[in-house]
Amino acid sequence: MDKFLIKGPTPKGVRGSLDCEGAKNCALPLMAASILVNGTVVLKNIPFVNDVKTMSNLLISLGSTVELFEKKKIIKITNKKKHKLIVPFKLISTMRAGVLAMGPLLGKYNKCSTAMSGGCSLGDRGIGFHLEGFKKLNCSYKLRKGYINIIAKNGIKGNIYKFPKVSVTGTSNLIMASVLGNGQTTKLHNVSIEPEVLDLIKFLKNGGAQIDFIGKRTIKIIGVKKLNGCSHEVIGDRIEAFSYLCVAVITRGKIKINKINPKNLYTELKILKKMGCDLKIKNSSIEINAKKKLKPVKIKTLPFPGFATDNSPPLIAVLAKVKGKSEIQENIFSQRFQCVPELNKMGASISIKNNKAIILGVDKLYGSECISSDLRTTFSIILGALAASEISIIDRVYHGFRGYYQLDKKLKKIGINIKKIS
Ligand code: EPU
Repeated sequence: MDKFLIKGPTPKGVRGSLDCEGAKNCALPLMAASILVNGTVVLKNIPFVNDVKTMSNLLISLGSTVELFEKKKIIKITNKKKHKLIVPFKLISTMRAGVLAMGPLLGKYNKCSTAMSGGCSLGDRGIGFHLEGFKKLNCSYKLRKGYINIIAKNGIKGNIYKFPKVSVTGTSNLIMASVLGNGQTTKLHNVSIEPEVLDLIKFLKNGGAQIDFIGKRTIKIIGVKKLNGCSHEVIGDRIEAFSYLCVAVITRGKIKINKINPKNLYTELKILKKMGCDLKIKNSSIEINAKKKLKPVKIKTLPFPGFATDNSPPLIAVLAKVKGKSEIQENIFSQRFQCVPELNKMGASISIKNNKAIILGVDKLYGSECISSDLRTTFSIILGALAASEISIIDRVYHGFRGYYQLDKKLKKIGINIKKIS
């Protein structure tokens, strides 16, 4: 298994610039949504991370023709024949986003059988809302041998569903299940308004779907007969962008991140400013200078436009070295703090009380041997290692490659001493 060997600290801080990749959590639902389309879909600015490759294999196994152009960051998906309706375990076991095939398969064929998914182990991550929503749309389901078999015997019928709690993939799945039809109306309340969901809606509308916001978190969907092929550019990855901003902060460096819409990081940038970072924000770039003395902060993770849960592990690592007491309250996932024991191994002083991480900033971190357990934890441990004296070895970095494109290469580009070893 690949490991990272990192030699910290980075004496003068990182410098230079990086281009943000397309957002993984946007590319995956867009790829799944291609199932709904008759014809060809061209997706641009695709991040060729491992989850995208898994989703591509999933589409191929269902019967789509998928052409990958990694250098151009383009994926071309063509549907000429009827899809298979089974999403097998081997393609879903490492990637929770595989559940996103359910919505489009139901929308187009009124039937699917999907293995229970894997992905990041962030605590109890059910799909109860997806299933309750499908039921409202006239589906019934049975769980058998690790597969969920869902069927709409008399076709999908429009209805009203209110999410008990905002769900990103739940919203995407129910939209995709509702877009095709004969003019039936579906209303979804308390939906996710994450930028990635808005981009999915934009893509579906380009293909001919009728989807409109009729309230801040309410959408109305009118089923259309078919969706046409189209071309679409994936938005920049706000989580990747924030992760690299954190590299600048923890090394007290200065970098510029290009190809990112700063509005999608509104809350996060406000927090970085509050901490004392200097930011130059333009239409599609963010420049950060973290040379000044930094202050501790208190934050809560929330659905967009709140502080993103995926951005909390990198920030925890940063705050571990900011003098004073910081607090991060996690409101989305029960197992979000898996970076904490690893950072504490390096000498951080972080305790967890219920859903709060209490971080007492220390002067020094020490290189250690660490194990990564999920995608964002990997980046958090890397950040700790960048600030630590001596060498750190991080195991199971494959989690990181699920979502960060050319992770070690990009870090090297801005001056980090990192080596991938087997
Ligand atoms: N929830 C339920 N039942 C459901 C669905 C969700 O209880 O049926 C709960 C979850 O347990 C959680 C909350 O609702 O407490 C929100 O979960 P959500 O459904 O929004 O998460 P997700 O759609 O599975 C996506 C991203 C995650 C990101 C979360 C939150 C993708 C492929 N994944 O997951 O990304 O953390 O939204 O923003 O879009 C990552 O990229 O590292 C990652 C984990």
